[in-house]
Amino acid sequence: MGFPVKRPRRLRTSASIRRLVRETAVAPSDLILPLFFNEAIDAPKPVQTMPGVSQLPVSQAAAVAREAHARGLGGVILFGLPKTKDDKGSSALDAKGPVPRAVAAMKDAVPDLVVMTDVCVDEYTDHGHCGLLRKKKNGEIEVDNDRTIEVLAKMALIHAKAGADVVAPSDMMDGRVRAIRTELDREGFDGTAILSYAVKYASSFYGPFREAADCAPKFGDRAGYQMDPGNAREALREARLDEDEGADMLMVKPALAYLDVIRAVRESSTLPLFAYNVSGEYSMLQAAAAANMIDLDRAILEVLVSIRRAGADAILTYHAHRAAELLDA
Ligand code: PBG
Repeated sequence: MGFPVKRPRRLRTSASIRRLVRETAVAPSDLILPLFFNEAIDAPKPVQTMPGVSQLPVSQAAAVAREAHARGLGGVILFGLPKTKDDKGSSALDAKGPVPRAVAAMKDAVPDLVVMTDVCVDEYTDHGHCGLLRKKKNGEIEVDNDRTIEVLAKMALIHAKAGADVVAPSDMMDGRVRAIRTELDREGFDGTAILSYAVKYASSFYGPFREAADCAPKFGDRAGYQMDPGNAREALREARLDEDEGADMLMVKPALAYLDVIRAVRESSTLPLFAYNVSGEYSMLQAAAAANMIDLDRAILEVLVSIRRAGADAILTYHAHRAAELLDA
C-alpha cells in the first residue's frame, strides 16, 4: 500500500477553509483610485475608451472624496486637464489649476483621505511630451531633462501647498526625485511623501489614458524617457536610484505584463511598492466582458490578487470602487 495519497484538495473543500489558507488577499485599503479633473467642464464627461470612467469637474471633488472614503479605499491620485496648454506646460504651475483646487477641496471635505497627485507636464504641454523640449546640435528635438526637473519640483510644491499628502512624479526624468525632495524640504514641506513612478515602461497599455487625460504626444513617442519592455535589471537600477534620491515609495507601471518586475523590485527594496493597473488593462477587461468573453467581477479580483501576489503592497486601479464593493460583500 505504501504512503497514503497526498490530498491537497482537503484544503479546498469549503469556502471557509479556502479563506483560512489563502496566502494573499486584497483589501479596499490596498486600492488607489485615479481621478481626472477637467477645468473646462461642469458635468462629468465620459471617457469613450474607458467605459465607466469620466473626467470630472472640480466642483465634484469633495463628493468623490467622501465616496472614496466611505468605500474604505486606500487613497486617490489626481490628474489635471487644464484649459490652456503651451510648449512649456506653464499651466502646470498654476496654483489655481484643476489639481491644486481639487486637492484642497478633497482634503477640506475629508482630511483623513490620502490624496496623491501625479506630477508630470504631459497634460499641460501642447506637444504632449513629459518635459520641455530642446533642439540637439543635429537638429533633432529631445526632452530637456534638467530644465524639466526644475518645473516638476515647482509643480510638486504647488500640490504640496494645496494639501497633497503624496506627490507622484511619472515623467521618468533623471534626478527628479532629488529635485522634488530638495524643493519640498526647502519650503517646509518635509512631511509630504514622494511616490516615485520609478519603473515605468514605454507601454501600449497607456492608450486609453491618453484620451482620458488628453496627453497623447503630438509627435514621436516616449521611448526616449520611458523604459524598454525588454529590461528587468534596469528596473532595479531605476528603483535603487530613486530610493537613494529620497523616494518614500516606489511604483512599477504597467502591472500585468510586468509581474516579474514587481516581484524583482519587491525583493530588492524594503520600501512600500505600488503597481499601476493602467488604463489599457482596465479597458481590456471591460471590452472582454462587454463581448461576454469573461466574467468582469471575477476577472477584476483575480487581476488585483495577482498583482498583490507578485509583491505590490497597493494598486492604482480604475476598478477600485467595484473591487471594494465586491470585497466588502
Ligand atoms: C504621464 C502618465 C501616463 C499615465 C500615468 N501618468 C501616460 C503616459 O505615460 O503616457 C498612464 C496611466 C494609465 O494608462 O492608466 N503623466
